Amino acid sequence: MTAIKHVTGTAFIVAEYRARENEEAHPLYVDRVVPIFLDARTRAAADAISAGFPATEKLPRLRTRYFDDRLDEQLGSGCRQVVILGSGLDTRAVRKRSPGVAYFEIDDANTLNLKQARYAENGIDAPVAFIPGNYVAAGVLPLLESNGFDAGLPSFFIWEGNTMYLTRPAVMKVLADLKERVRQFAISFDYMDEAVVARTTGELQTTTFVERFAAMGAPWHFGLDDLDALADEAAMTIADAVTVGGLHRTYWPDRPLDSIVYDHYSLCTLKPRAA
Ligand SMILES: C[S@@+](CC[C@H](N)C(=O)[O-])C[C@H]1O[C@@H](n2cnc3c(N)ncnc32)[C@H](O)[C@@H]1O
Repeated sequence: MTAIKHVTGTAFIVAEYRARENEEAHPLYVDRVVPIFLDARTRAAADAISAGFPATEKLPRLRTRYFDDRLDEQLGSGCRQVVILGSGLDTRAVRKRSPGVAYFEIDDANTLNLKQARYAENGIDAPVAFIPGNYVAAGVLPLLESNGFDAGLPSFFIWEGNTMYLTRPAVMKVLADLKERVRQFAISFDYMDEAVVARTTGELQTTTFVERFAAMGAPWHFGLDDLDALADEAAMTIADAVTVGGLHRTYWPDRPLDSIVYDHYSLCTLKPRAA
């Protein structure tokens, strides 16, 4: 297995937290596929990151529901290609398969090889093109187009748990490339605000949370306070935007928010602005 460290290792930690939602009486989503990637090592790594700070586990669970909902909307409105950037152990190509819809996943070769092997061992036939590579270094479109992606078809991009590991120029380049090359698309992504990334929220647990990722070799670089400005700069419109705190209040109205971090973490969907 890929070592559970560096940015690639974060995928195994997220997968652990995502799977734990299955145990809830009224889960936000059900992911029966993700447990095939988990073992004692992934559990230990995830527990070390979340120790003493339950929000660590809840953030990816709430965000998973958001991306699932956006994907369902896109599939319902004629999307023909779903691209998952930095896909890690995302199982949507299996869970959300849809006739006539092609999935593309880009991530590190070791992670995708392990994923493919586990799918094969478990008899899971996923309609997905696994594309090993670094989409910042190689560019999203070159990687996609050499693997059968058609920039003329309506497409949806899922960019989950990625932006914090990038720099602002890298984030803007991804958006600019899609805007320039893909005829019709939407992209959903999550982002931390600047105070979280700068470790200045004043909440010790949130600062420790960020430091734990840095200590495993996966430091965060990109934080965002002004989504309007980013969308303007990218010549895109905001189709929707919500904080994870908003999702927490919606889905878990009886559970108290146990950290400020929920309101410092956001999700959004952007579409190209009409010319
Ligand atoms: C926190 S994990 C999230 C995985 C998945 N999207 C999810 O939410 O379950 C981040 C993933 O993004 C991948 N990643 C980050 N930057 C990348 C890049 N420039 N090119 C390819 N993969 C990248 C990492 O290898 C890792 O698997």
